[in-house]
Amino acid sequence: MAINLDVNGVARRYDGPTERPLLWYLREDLGLTGAKFGCGIALCGACLVLLGDTAAPACRTPMGSLDGAAVTTIEGLAAGDDPVIAAWRDAQVPQCGYCQPGQVIAATALLRTTPRPTPAQTEAAMDRVLCRCGTYQRARQALAALTGGHDNG
Ligand code: FES
Ligand code: FES
Repeated sequence: MAINLDVNGVARRYDGPTERPLLWYLREDLGLTGAKFGCGIALCGACLVLLGDTAAPACRTPMGSLDGAAVTTIEGLAAGDDPVIAAWRDAQVPQCGYCQPGQVIAATALLRTTPRPTPAQTEAAMDRVLCRCGTYQRARQALAALTGGHDNG
């Protein structure tokens, strides 16, 4: 069964195994390596992408579930003048960078659905992404700058 989906604004057709994770389609077939492999079990957030306006772990999203879906990766955000990426840059959030695509995707999904998130909503959204470099506080500062709120990190 052909799967027709949109990736970063480009229409794509996929004819491979339906159980194949989206992460490997993005990285191996399309060369979009911004979404990272971390745990493979939807626990670390390194592989988050947007499905519509929702952050989803590409490692656990089978291709067979994506017919008609709109996928946005960090490359898709970076192709435009993205306010979250700009805020991340201004707050100097990234360290090694491995988790950062996931953090930006999580923040983008949060702000698209909840433009003025409470601290609890922010924590619930951002807790999905593990950062071994400990950039959590600067990420909260970047989010606070985007929402005009206070840094609750
Ligand atoms: S690699 Fe997908 S959540 Fe960890
Ligand atoms: S910046 Fe290194 S893992 Fe988060």
